Formats: sequence, C-alpha cells, structure tokens
Amino acid sequence: MADSSGILSDVVITGRNLEGLEGTKALITSQSPGITVHVITGDLGDMKTLPALCSKLLAPADPSKHQQSLFVNNAGTLSDCNTPILSQTDPEAIQEYFGVNITSMIVLTTRFLSALPSSPQYVINITSLLASVFKQGYQLYSPSRAARNAFMGVLGAEMPSVRQLNYSPGPCNTDMYIGVPEKFRVGTEHVLTAEQSIRRLLGILKEDSFESGATIDYFDQSS
Ligand SMILES: NC(=O)c1ccc[n+]([C@@H]2O[C@H](COP(=O)([O-])OP(=O)(O)OC[C@H]3O[C@@H](n4cnc5c(N)ncnc54)[C@H](OP(=O)(O)O)[C@@H]3O)[C@@H](O)[C@H]2O)c1
Repeated sequence: MADSSGILSDVVITGRNLEGLEGTKALITSQSPGITVHVITGDLGDMKTLPALCSKLLAPADPSKHQQSLFVNNAGTLSDCNTPILSQTDPEAIQEYFGVNITSMIVLTTRFLSALPSSPQYVINITSLLASVFKQGYQLYSPSRAARNAFMGVLGAEMPSVRQLNYSPGPCNTDMYIGVPEKFRVGTEHVLTAEQSIRRLLGILKEDSFESGATIDYFDQSS
C-alpha cells in the first residue's frame, strides 16, 4: 500500500508458517527500512475463519493514507499428482482443495478492492501455464488455475479501472516444485529461482505498460 506519489508504506503478508513469514519480513525491511511489514498468520483453507482473517489482513488499510494499492494472490497448493483422475471421488477433499485455491482468492480480492477503493488498484494473480496446458497429474491444480484466470477476466469486464495481471512465474525451485514427483515435472530444462521470477514480475510492474488483464509468462519475450 502506498501514498498518492507511489511511496510504499505498508506491506501485509500472510501464510500459516510464522517463521517463514518473519524471514520474508526481515528480507523486506533489510532492503527497504522505511516500510512497515504486517505479518498475519492464518489458514486460507479454513472457510469458517476466512472472513475474520480477511479483516485482520485489511486492518492496516487506510483509504486516507493509501491511495495506491497492490494485491498479489500467490498462496496456493498442489494436489497429489500420483492420485489417478478416477480416484477424485471425495467431495469434501475436492471442496477443501478449491477452498484454498479458488474461494479464498476470490474473497480476498473482493474484500481488498472494497477496503481500498483507491486509484489505481492493482491485482496480480500468480497463475500457471497449467491453467491451459493439460498434463497428467494435475486434475485439481489445472482447473483451479483456470478458474482463477476466469475470475480475473470477469473482474476486468466488471471493473476495468482495476489494473490486473495474471503472471505465470515459470518453473521455480520452491517447495511446491521440489515436491512434484519427477515424472510429472514440467519445464525441467529451465528451472528458475524464485528470486529470478520475482525480479521479472517487479520489472513488469515497475514499467507498468502491461495491458490490463494480460497473462504474462516468465519466458514471454514481448513483454
Ligand atoms: N513453483 C512453481 O514452479 C510454480 C509454477 C507456476 C505457478 N506457481 C504458483 O506460484 C504460487 C506460489 O507457489 P510456490 O511454488 O511458491 O509454492 P510453495 O513453495 O508451496 O508456497 C506456497 C505458498 O502458499 C502459502 N499457502 C499454501 N497453503 C496455504 C493456506 N492454507 N493458507 C495460507 N497460505 C497458504 C504458503 O504459505 P504457508 O506455508 O506459510 O502457509 C506459501 O507461501 C502458487 O500459486 C503456484 O500455483 C508455482
């Protein structure tokens, strides 16, 4: 969240793992000592506590102070690649997966946009090539990424003033990627560090010339 001249003052980060979040906070403050980093732990997969978690996340938002705001939907999970598609028969498990990966993303985005009706508002959806490229092992992951992209499309149609982007980070050597059994891994010839991919996203945002609603992949040349 930033003031009208774009000076970043507050960053809110969330996840379940406090230690990881504190590490991220230390990284941000070491680079930018003037920024206040608010660490809020919570489970985006718990639909009962999701509204209260959103309120906590948005508590630092102050429309009189924050005239520019950017929201990144990064949190996500992978379902078990080894589960054959015909074994996806447990409604509760499927619902739980879509809760973390779709419902929370929609609720967080709409709550964010209502809390800071500033201009410009930015929404970044961290997406995946697998939203439109269908591979064995991604029975729930691919539909969840496609649904997130579709939600962004409707958001663009209904609220064209919101600057929004689907960013596909490429294969990054994170816990998620490392956890994928080798035979299901995609893009193994060009695995990136998370820092490489984040730097690319920051470059795109800094330049701010992307077409709102675009989907940009790390490897795209023309953006
Ligand atoms: N890595 C890749 O190759 C790749 C490629 C394309 C797209 N992506 C996308 O990039 C995004 C980040 O993935 P990653 O590779 O960084 O995965 P990761 O290492 O597994 O990190 C997942 C992130 O989501 C958070 N999270 C997961 N479940 C949560 C829950 N129930 N409540 C709150 N936070 C939760 C985690 O925080 P806590 O653990 O603290 O809860 C963590 O920050 C995902 O949306 C993924 O689909 C990744």
